[in-house]
Order: sequence, then C-alpha cells, then structure tokens
Amino acid sequence: MNVKSLIAERIELAIYSVTGQHSSADIQLSTKSEHGDYQANGIMRIAKALKIKPRELAEQVIAQTEYGDIVESLVVAGPGFINIELKNSFFSELLEKGNLIKKREKTKTVVIDYSSPNLAKEMHVGHLRSTIIGDAIARILDCLGYNVIRQNHVGDWGTQFGMLIENMEHENFSSENLADLETFYRSSKKKFDEDPEFAQQARARVVSLQSGDQLTRNQWLRFINISLSHCREIYERLGVSLSDEDLAPESSYNALLPTVIEALNKRGLLEESEGAQCVFLEEFTSSEGDRQPLIVRKSDGGYLYATTDLAAILHRENLGADRIIYITDARQKLHFKQVFAVAKQAGFAKKIEQMNHFSTGAMLASNGRPFKTREGGTIRLSDLLNEAEQRALNLLKSKGSELTETEQNDLAKAIGIGAVKYADLSKNRNSDYIFDWDNMLALNGNTAPYMQYAYARIQSIFRQAEVQPDSLSGKINPVAQSERALCKELIRFQEVLDQVAAEGFPHYLCVYLYNLSSLFSKFYEELTILDADKEKQASRLLICERTGSVLKLGLSLLGITVLERM
Ligand code: ARG
Repeated sequence: MNVKSLIAERIELAIYSVTGQHSSADIQLSTKSEHGDYQANGIMRIAKALKIKPRELAEQVIAQTEYGDIVESLVVAGPGFINIELKNSFFSELLEKGNLIKKREKTKTVVIDYSSPNLAKEMHVGHLRSTIIGDAIARILDCLGYNVIRQNHVGDWGTQFGMLIENMEHENFSSENLADLETFYRSSKKKFDEDPEFAQQARARVVSLQSGDQLTRNQWLRFINISLSHCREIYERLGVSLSDEDLAPESSYNALLPTVIEALNKRGLLEESEGAQCVFLEEFTSSEGDRQPLIVRKSDGGYLYATTDLAAILHRENLGADRIIYITDARQKLHFKQVFAVAKQAGFAKKIEQMNHFSTGAMLASNGRPFKTREGGTIRLSDLLNEAEQRALNLLKSKGSELTETEQNDLAKAIGIGAVKYADLSKNRNSDYIFDWDNMLALNGNTAPYMQYAYARIQSIFRQAEVQPDSLSGKINPVAQSERALCKELIRFQEVLDQVAAEGFPHYLCVYLYNLSSLFSKFYEELTILDADKEKQASRLLICERTGSVLKLGLSLLGITVLERM
C-alpha cells in the first residue's frame, strides 16, 4: 500500500470540501520526529491563492479530514503546515497482514528498451549501466503489476556489419569464437577507416544486406549468432532477466522502414536536404537559428538509426504500449527528443501516454577519467565480472572462511556480481560515477555486501530462535521508539517502488533499503528479542521477518541475490 498517496487522498478530499478546488496537499515525509511522520506542505500555497489565512485553512482542512483509521493526530504547525502522525495500529495491522505491495488493478502496458548493445563486438563496461538499471526498473514495474514488455533493441543492422562482410573478401573468417570475431572486427574497422574504397564497398554491403540479398544475409547471420551467444552468457552471469524472447533487433524493423517514410511524407513532414530525406521541427533550432534535422533516409537510399526508432514506436503502439521507457547514455538525449517529437507529429504514438528517455552518466575510473584498460582500450564486461568474483573470493579467504571451496566460490559470485550491480544502482543514474573496487566491496556503507550481510544476520536470529520465519504470525505492537521507526519505514516500501517506477531512479530503492538496514541495526542493538517476554518476543520476531522479507524482495528487484549465511 502506498501510504503517502493514501494520506494525500484523504487530505485532498478535505481540501476540496473546504475550498471547492482540487489541489495538491504536497505530502512529504517529515525529516524531524517532532514534526510527525508526514507533513502536508501545500496549505500555504492554496491559502495564498484564495487570499485566506493559512493557519485557518489548515484548521478547517483538519476538521474535514476523515482519518480515524490511519492517523493518530493532525496538528497545525508554523505558518500553516499540517503535521501528521500515523496511528500505531494502522501500520501494525498492515505489517501483520504482510502484503506491503498492492498490485495495480487496471494494468497498463509498459515497454522497456534497455541493454540494446550493438552486436559484432564484445559487450564492454559501457553496456553495464543501461543493462542493470533497465533490468531493475523492469522488475519493479513487474512487481507493481504493470504489464511489462522488455525489448532488447540490439544493433545488428548498421555499418559495422557491412565492414565485416566486406572484409570476408580480404581475409578468411571461419571461426565460431568471439575472441576471433573481435580481432576480425578490429582489422575490418582499420581498413574501413583507412581505405576509402573499402569503406565505399562496406556501405554497399549494408545496402545489399538491407535489401535482402541471401548470400550477404547468411554471412551476416554467422556474426550475429556469435555475438548473441556472448550476450546470453553475460546476461546469465549478471542475473539479468533478458531472454531471447525479448530480442527486438534493429533488423526486425526493416520491412517497416518504407512505411515510416511514406507516413511521414503523407503528413507533409519530409523535406529533402542535400539529397537526404529529413524532418525539420520548429522546436529543434540551434542557438544560431539553424534548423536541426532528423535524417530518416540517406541520399544512397539507406535508412538510419532514427528511422528504425520511429518504426519501433509504431510497432510498440501495436503491442499496446501505454508507456515506453528507454535507457541509454546521455549522449542520445537529443536523438530521443527528436524521435519522440516526430513520432507524435506523425501520429505514430496516438495511444502512448508517455515516452521517457532515462539517460545515464558515464562510468569513470578513480582518477575521474573515462574507465579504460591500461592500454586505453575499452574494458570487456566479462573481464570486469571475472575480476569482481576474484576480488570477492580473495576477501572471503582473507577473512578465513569455514565454508567449502565450492561454497566459497558460489558466495564469491553472489558477492562480486552483486557489488558491481549495486554500486551502479545506488548512484543517481544522471551522474557520472566512479568505479571503485574497494568502495563497492566494503562491508560498511551503502554497498551490496552490507545489505546482503544485513539480510543474513536477520536469518541468523531465526536460527537462534529455532523458528521458521515464514511460519511466524500474530500481533505486532511497536512499543519502543526504535521499533516504531522501523515499522514506519517498512510500510514505505510501496511508496518507494512507485517513485522508482515513475521517475526511473533505482537509487531511491537503494537508499531506502540502506536506511531500513540502519533502522534495523538500531532496533537490534537497543532491544532484546529472544530474552524479551513472550508477547514482545513474538512481535519483534515478526518485525524481523518483515524486515527480512522487504530486504530480500527489495534486493531481488535490484537483481541482487541474498544469502542465508555469510
Ligand atoms: N544500440 C544502441 C547503442 O548501443 C542503443 C539502442 C537503444 N535503443 C533504441 N531504441 N534506440 O547505442
């Protein structure tokens, strides 16, 4: 249940009955306990517009609010805030029932386009953010009851394939091996950059590929298959929920591209500029007043990245999308702005209510420079994951573990991969972030190992108490301050998930889970559990169970495995 929305609804209803207007109560979490649990901050603004005294309006709103079941007290404070204190029985009952997430009844369809690497090369660190952040958002939307359609818009149709196919004329390539493809790619790219005639031929190959030439297509397929099986491996290692069914490669839109051009033309949106077909929209004008085109067809007849994205929107509207989310790095901001605007103008997104581009900053090395190998090359994702697992294993060994070799290896995988993912997810995706092994593997702070440890510690309480956590039930009665604070945080879970779903910032969930663990530590340090009297013991064990469940579900939504023991 989204408690914040529930309170907002109640107070906004009262505002309506007092003023006759629908206005936001602007409910916020209180930062100081003397201000209650939540605060309504919207009263002053409404009073000002109506030219009435804010404190008086607040009093009237309080008098009209129906709140007995949720709220203990509503108090006017300062110039016209309303401080809201929740009733203990309200959250105790919620926690006793245990279903903190209420799935949506009227389902909306959300298409989420993420990971989407360009094929023919190995996945590198640059693919990590979109893959991990996108997967977390997809899982959260799923959990909230949206109908989620994942789309892995892999780049399998561009110039890079023309290059590879053309290079088959010069070098033999018969391997099935990714490392060989990587070498072949490099030598093809070199020729492409250095030899204009080769480049010309490579482009011609793209045209024959796109026009369906069988021989070219067969050659292309071999490259694609090597690449895709590599992606599968990486997804598997990362525990990313993308499968082959989610593949919606650029090539799959090929047949739709002429339709896109035709539709744009019909709407009078096409304009020829230097031989290319373009769409110029007024809102895209540089500061010097130059109009910025979205090019949809080159002078040689070839289609572009943008054309494919327009076709994808047409297709996604047919899939029933109410919303489309894209996750890529920030360099594609203008691209998506233009594509969204053109799609709307062209009537390709009539039923789609929202199109969001959630962009990400770059991954940087600890010196603040781009994250590269010592030789200045891109870092392969598989190397990065190997290192993560190795470092986690070294850490475990240095602490002297009693586990068997296999157990240690499994643990190291969960910890190492979890650390890499959580480090990324816990930062605001808009910022560039510094990739730092020591920070992400630290047992203290907002890190995966800390969160995994917090969960494992709760499980050890149940082992000590010799209870099965999922068999616990009964009454929750938060008497102590630290207990009340923990319970109150637990019931915020849905509020946080809803916020991530709306704004696409998984770090909100990380911050929440980290806070929750800190509140749990306080609760655990201050209160006795096993030595408390029977009633308190039962209540506290149930609070432990609910905390463990929220941590487990929260981490699993971030794609992070929890461990029963650490
Ligand atoms: N393949 C692109 C890249 O690597 C990302 C594709 C994102 N999705 C999209 N529909 N354009 O930059």
